[in-house]
Amino acid sequence: MRGAEKSQMDIKVKSGSITKMDGELAVLGFFEGERLQGPIASIDRGMRGKLKKTLSSENFTGSFLQTILIRPDRPKGLQRLILVGLGKRNEITEDRLRQAMGKGATSAQAIGAKRIVLDCNPHFIGKGTVRAFSQILVEGLILSLYKLDRLKTGNKKEKPIEDCVLVVPENKQVSQAEKGGAQGKVISEAVHFVRDLCNLPSNIVTPSYLAQEAKTIADEGRMQITVLERSDAEKLGMGAFLAVARGTAEDPKFIVMEYKGITGEKPIALIGKSVTFDTGGISLKPSERMDQMKYDMSGGATVLGVMSVISRLKLPVHVVAILPATDNMPSGTAVHPGDVVTALSGKTIEIDNTDAEGRLLLADALAYAARYNPKAMIDLATLTGACVVALGQHAIGLMGNQDTLISELQSAGEESGERLWPLPLWDDYFNQIKGEVADLKNVGGRAAGAITAGLFLKQFVGEIPWVHLDIAGTSWYSDARHPYIPKGATGIGVRLLVRYLTNHSKRKKR
Ligand code: BES
Ligand code: ZN
Ligand code: MN
Repeated sequence: MRGAEKSQMDIKVKSGSITKMDGELAVLGFFEGERLQGPIASIDRGMRGKLKKTLSSENFTGSFLQTILIRPDRPKGLQRLILVGLGKRNEITEDRLRQAMGKGATSAQAIGAKRIVLDCNPHFIGKGTVRAFSQILVEGLILSLYKLDRLKTGNKKEKPIEDCVLVVPENKQVSQAEKGGAQGKVISEAVHFVRDLCNLPSNIVTPSYLAQEAKTIADEGRMQITVLERSDAEKLGMGAFLAVARGTAEDPKFIVMEYKGITGEKPIALIGKSVTFDTGGISLKPSERMDQMKYDMSGGATVLGVMSVISRLKLPVHVVAILPATDNMPSGTAVHPGDVVTALSGKTIEIDNTDAEGRLLLADALAYAARYNPKAMIDLATLTGACVVALGQHAIGLMGNQDTLISELQSAGEESGERLWPLPLWDDYFNQIKGEVADLKNVGGRAAGAITAGLFLKQFVGEIPWVHLDIAGTSWYSDARHPYIPKGATGIGVRLLVRYLTNHSKRKKR
């Protein structure tokens, strides 16, 4: 991956006891209100005294994300221990564990650690396998250490943690921990890649840049790739996509990738909104915070991240990825409010607001995806400010036309910690987007803005099972407030979709 700053993290697995790791720094979870527990219950005497003293003198209770550093002052054995509060034992979830590891990792990095030791014994938590546990810990670790500093010149202050040692109690668990750790690393690297694409500015991440990244992923993963140019889109009749691209001097790219990890199965289509910069077009956005609209290609970036993960993990799935990529610019050639265009599906659309551009290019992308006769279509898009109003930053807006698919995604969301919440797509809302002079109009007024956008998309999916994920509120955090999601792009959707696709391939086997 050209743009991906691959994490330098080297992951090793050892068996034994964490407290005996000579000269190391360990990060360990600690349940609230319990006495010495897990690996530290059997800690050697040299450390026990110091540990107890520090815990009581610093009021460490183990409340969620509370941290404490213990230095035992001794010549051999573990040298530093960071305990991270896991909260109450009965409230522990995968995601809380991931957050706690993230918190521990950033604390370790802040005190200059180069190497970090983690305990991968799931018995301490009381459930789960060594493999799953290792994956979660590695995800929390790598995801929390994300940083984009390649555009800064001069010395980079913080030296990153370079090595991670996963410790399992028994020899026979080593290979499980290796598998889980490797999977966590592949997924986290893809999330870093997505975050980079979204955080990098639009003069770097152009549609051509996205197409290049897609080519690199396709080549590494033996996928097919086709990039349609403006002229190809014209020949095909992608009037809605082209309407958005009319104002920009940057060449638009309609990127299509296909990964066949299994034969004889209909594909799942992943469609990602890839507006490399959204000025609003002639319906210009206010300049305040307009700079953030560089992340309006988050959906497409996530789809690329997912494609890299499924090929690196060789998942037995068949996936088609579609990224309609363009800037949305005002100019002498830009589409005017009120213009009517004919979409790829043949439907006519009145473009009343050029800032509602995402649904336009997705209309053609969905119609194009439908030609593969997929068994499901999933689109991801930073589609509406209304979704941010409805759900804030804690849930992806979920809409669709089939209950099974909706609930499968919702479960994957619960499992991955990237949660989704449903909004209805009742026909009652249709009047709001019924065109005056054309079949449809691209805006439906203030009321239920996330829903009318979803209902607009629904007009282009036909009978194919489909869900729409509005990630406008979840793909960017203006301030860091989560241990493993720093400020800026979150890379949301990668873990969710990888989980969904993994679950899907397992369901097929049964
Ligand atoms: N990319 C924006 C949506 C958006 C807003 C994403 C805030 C992330 C944060 C989208 O293209 C847009 O401009 N939507 C308009 C639609 C309106 C004109 C119907 C919006 O939400 O205001
Ligand atoms: Zn947009
Ligand atoms: Mn817009």
